[in-house]
Amino acid sequence: MARFEIVNPLSGSCLTIKTKRLYLSVYKPCMAPEVTSYLVRNRSFHKPFTQVHKDRYFTISEQKAYLKSDLGQYKNNTQVGFWLSRIEEPGKIIGRLSFYSIIGGAMMTSFVGYHIDEACQGQGYMTEALQAGCDFMFKYYRLHRIQADVMPHNEKSQAVVEKCGFVKMGYNIRYMEIDGKYQDHVMYVLLNPEVEP
Ligand SMILES: CC(C)(COP(=O)(O)OP(=O)(O)OC[C@H]1O[C@@H](n2cnc3c(N)ncnc32)[C@H](O)[C@@H]1OP(=O)(O)O)[C@@H](O)C(=O)NCCC(=O)NCCS
Repeated sequence: MARFEIVNPLSGSCLTIKTKRLYLSVYKPCMAPEVTSYLVRNRSFHKPFTQVHKDRYFTISEQKAYLKSDLGQYKNNTQVGFWLSRIEEPGKIIGRLSFYSIIGGAMMTSFVGYHIDEACQGQGYMTEALQAGCDFMFKYYRLHRIQADVMPHNEKSQAVVEKCGFVKMGYNIRYMEIDGKYQDHVMYVLLNPEVEP
């Protein structure tokens, strides 16, 4: 059974899905102030897990441009970039869950990336969001496969993907540039149980 429902889009959003405790929304550029506030608040917490960003990345004008680009990718079916908020405080962003580089044709696959507000960790929010997001992508994008790449020492993130049913498929050496250097990643994959082999 799907662990989400599609609801009326939140203010500033063009798509919102709801889980037990969260809204997952694809936002328009007008939400740049809220996105920037979330990113600034978590800049040092996220730093060891993301690519290096210059100071201008943490400005409203730059985030407006990113949201515009995200929206273009959403419209041409190459990315679904959700922003997370709690149902009791829908206007405050507490995380990001992005299904990116969607490939159609014979592959029907995408990558997934995520991060949460430091203050909201350890309450099962990302597990809830990832389960719902994968259900949505399997149902509405008919993906066959979703790939998550996690650094070997990132035990929290490995716990999240494993709780969501992802299976370890390999180990990629010097795979992705994180915090200024190419770092090894464990490759996890979730296959769509509804798609015929
Ligand atoms: C990874 C991250 C998204 C997890 O979000 P979250 O909402 O706290 O995740 P959840 O609460 O759903 O699950 C976290 C799990 O990690 C487990 N965990 C916490 N600390 C741990 C540790 N030191 N070692 C192993 N597991 C740990 C928790 O017990 C929990 O599992 P449980 O529910 O079975 O107890 C969050 O920590 C984050 O944003 N980290 C920085 C960015 C990042 O790492 N992104 C992912 C890159 S691949």
